[in-house]
Amino acid sequence: MNSALSKIIFVTGANQGLGFAIIQVAALRDPEPTYVLASRKRLAGEEAAKKLRELGVTAKIEVVQLDVTNDEQIAAAVDFIKTRFGKLDGECFLSNPAYAQLGS
Ligand SMILES: NC(=O)c1ccc[n+]([C@@H]2O[C@H](COP(=O)([O-])OP(=O)(O)OC[C@H]3O[C@@H](n4cnc5c(N)ncnc54)[C@H](OP(=O)(O)O)[C@@H]3O)[C@@H](O)[C@H]2O)c1
Repeated sequence: MNSALSKIIFVTGANQGLGFAIIQVAALRDPEPTYVLASRKRLAGEEAAKKLRELGVTAKIEVVQLDVTNDEQIAAAVDFIKTRFGKLDGECFLSNPAYAQLGS
């Protein structure tokens, strides 16, 4: 299917833990969308994509480097999605990592 026509599921922090599991379960259930696996370390993202293949995922997976605290990387990820898919709306975006700081 033309990438520009398929749904995009974008998950941050997806190289391990819940983000990885979400892509694994979703992609096994529905291989039609393109899954964007965002990882703050590119190599970890590439390794996670390889592992998903080994686990039987056949859906298209794109790896994007993204630290959600880095404005430049956020802008680059938006540009990548717009350029690659020609759109950024109406799809699923899951920001998985969370951050909490207790006051002193
Ligand atoms: N696991 C549970 O049962 C559970 C239950 C309730 C809530 N939660 C919450 O759900 C979230 C994920 O949990 P998890 O168990 O999947 O944790 P995890 O296995 O530690 O995975 C966290 C993911 O977030 C990434 N990450 C951290 N900081 C990031 C940043 N600034 N930018 C981009 N990615 C970043 C990590 O990347 P690196 O690999 O590079 O570190 C990793 O891929 C956490 O906020 C946790 O508190 C988890």
